[in-house]
Amino acid sequence: MSTDATEIRGIGHSVKRKEDDRFIRGKGTYVDDVVLPGMLYMAILRSPLAHAELKSIDASRATALPGVVAVVTGELLAQHNLAWMPTLSGDTQAVLVTDRVRFQGQEVACVIAESAYIAKDALELIDVEYEPLPPVTNPEQAAKDDAPVIRTDKEGQEGNHIYHWESGDKEATDRAFAEADVVVSLDTFYPRSHPAPLETCGCVADVNPATGQATIWMTSQAPHAIRTVFALVTGLPEENIRVISPDLGGGFGNKVPVYPGYVVATAASLLLGRPVKWIEDRTENLISTGFARDFHMHGELALREDGTMLGLRVSLLADEGAFHADAQPTKFKVGLFHIVTGSYDLPAAHVVADGAYTNKAPGGVAYRCSFRVTEASYLIERLVQNAAYELGMDPADLRLKNFIKAEQFPYTSPTGFVYDSGDYQRAAELAMDSMAYRELREEQENARKEGRLIGVGMASFTEVVGAGPHKDFDILGLKMFDSAELRIHPTGKAILKIGVKTQGQGHETTFAQIVAEELGIQPEDVLVQHGDTDNTPYGLGTYASRSTPTAGAATAMVSRKLREKGRTIAAHLLEVAPEDVEFEKGRFFVRGAPDKAKTIQDVAFAAYTNFPDGLEPGLEGVHYYDPPNMTFPFGTYLVSVEVDPDTGEWKVRRVVAVDDCGVRINPMIVEGQIHGGLAEGYGIAAMELITFDEGGNCIGSNFMDYLLPTAWETPKFELHATVTPSPHHPFGAKGVGESATVGSPAAFVNAVIDALQHLGIRNIEMPLTSGRVWEAIQTAQGSGPVGGS
Ligand code: CDP
Repeated sequence: MSTDATEIRGIGHSVKRKEDDRFIRGKGTYVDDVVLPGMLYMAILRSPLAHAELKSIDASRATALPGVVAVVTGELLAQHNLAWMPTLSGDTQAVLVTDRVRFQGQEVACVIAESAYIAKDALELIDVEYEPLPPVTNPEQAAKDDAPVIRTDKEGQEGNHIYHWESGDKEATDRAFAEADVVVSLDTFYPRSHPAPLETCGCVADVNPATGQATIWMTSQAPHAIRTVFALVTGLPEENIRVISPDLGGGFGNKVPVYPGYVVATAASLLLGRPVKWIEDRTENLISTGFARDFHMHGELALREDGTMLGLRVSLLADEGAFHADAQPTKFKVGLFHIVTGSYDLPAAHVVADGAYTNKAPGGVAYRCSFRVTEASYLIERLVQNAAYELGMDPADLRLKNFIKAEQFPYTSPTGFVYDSGDYQRAAELAMDSMAYRELREEQENARKEGRLIGVGMASFTEVVGAGPHKDFDILGLKMFDSAELRIHPTGKAILKIGVKTQGQGHETTFAQIVAEELGIQPEDVLVQHGDTDNTPYGLGTYASRSTPTAGAATAMVSRKLREKGRTIAAHLLEVAPEDVEFEKGRFFVRGAPDKAKTIQDVAFAAYTNFPDGLEPGLEGVHYYDPPNMTFPFGTYLVSVEVDPDTGEWKVRRVVAVDDCGVRINPMIVEGQIHGGLAEGYGIAAMELITFDEGGNCIGSNFMDYLLPTAWETPKFELHATVTPSPHHPFGAKGVGESATVGSPAAFVNAVIDALQHLGIRNIEMPLTSGRVWEAIQTAQGSGPVGGS
């Protein structure tokens, strides 16, 4: 891109991230940086057991410790009707235990003290008597008739089943399967993982006893929605609650839910009349806050012998943990999983989903994923790969044959989505050319003759992002639109306030670029504010790649509103009719006389100093944008690996990623998003796993056990792009934030399976540790095919 200083650095420019100056210099303000006079500190006592009857809590020793101000128990909260709170899925969750502990790490009591150290020390002085109950740690076990009922608190709850949900057309799918020559099936488990943001969760709650005003600094991806939920739960007037979500050190879905710590800290501040800070440690974050995935899936793909796909059948069992707290649109029980038909022109599909309670932490958050799309993408891409082996076709050719064609858009999927635009063939071919795919297949053949195992994995994904049209999308009844408020000051500098909340995605830069594109004000002259409920318009927050499709669109729309007002002011200054004034980036001019012009800065000044009679002074506006549809970014990822047959160790040779997120606002930021997503996808495929032993103990409660890839392990990524604009978005953008995490785990796993497919291996469960791969090789060499059919 040009670096001409006079050029407006709007959409398409790789503008350096404005926010990084403060982050690099250590000048960001995170929740833990907030220190208020008279502030108290809170620590949470968590249950060591996964399932137990709470017999008694004796806090007398803790209360006697000098510096301890109060110990809060479930019993105390119950007196204020605060012992339970609603979850984002409309279930209830214990704030502090009153009856039973239902997962290891559950919040039992809180200490409020003069220092964080005293609060932690006092936890050890609380005497709790539990009566252990048998824990249930997987949903199949939970579904059994003799399984202990976990939610004894819920009237009418028999067993541990939560919901049954179906999508698609069962009869049409049955007919498709009856006509099929080949049916390929796969049972697979997408394991529980954790978003693990660098900054853990926390808050500082400050309820002013004189005014009743509650200011809560909180690690929240969705401050407005949280404020509304808080108002409903506590009964405090909403205008008296101010939620400020300052700089966030990552969120990835983990900072969407309401956690008990927020509620107790706020209640404690209310009761004690002093500010209360709560910051969780790493283990608390990993064992008690929103997990992701944990889906047991069965898929069947019906095909003709020539490779034509006919139908898809999927059933899944979701492990929801002890409280159903998925963060997802109300209407869809397993999020947008029904995008599981992926990039393929599948005439029929039927999805059946069930959810079960277990003695594990609740969550089900959109971990760099648009509400369960990652699980869906993984299943279909693994099935397609196996179908190719079954038919003796090349996996890329099978995909190319069945892709929805460019001319079929807008395309209605058999589960009811209307895909806005796409050119899957072009993206796949670009990836294949960049990887030299055909040559790689030859290399693979030759290597195999020498006993070397090379594999090539492909994943062509379609995401669904940007929730959403209000008619289909709400969370707890709050419709999913978003907003932007723009004020241009007399000097031509602007302030943009948005309803979404950046957690590292670079909104302060990209949203300023949208204003730059629409009005011609340089991005450095546009201050972007977010995260403070009292100073930004209402919005549903940032997760599921929704910011660009919703608040990004709102920003373009409000800029256009101000442009129209600017035209009237410019006409007044130029002494012509508004219809005779044209606009190009940064200036209004008289049609046919381009030299007779006024800059946007001239017009802004006039909006306060020299505006026409009858016109409302000032230059500001707000826009609430309700998107007409979701947007559907897509791409193809190719991964090549080499597997060591003696150890099962696998090494990534190359990763080629082609992404299409429509028009890119800032290509550099988009690439950063994709790098992060690919690293996460690799981590999930290779090493990330939260698991539980039979006693319900969480294995994965620290970074020694829960492995995240560092720069050392992360492979090099080669990125490419195609650009297929979204036809309904104001400037043709689709979201991108989550795409690479959604698309890439299947590509990594497919690559390893591809290296071993000649042994009949069709499935190895994630994470693909060398031990698991080695075991699969041994079993295959001893006893034929392993995993699916
Ligand atoms: O909701 P979230 O910000 O996580 O996701 P997104 O809307 O996909 O945006 C992620 C980042 O990439 C933001 O800074 C966007 O403005 C930027 N982006 C872009 O520059 N061009 C696109 N077409 C999509 C996103």
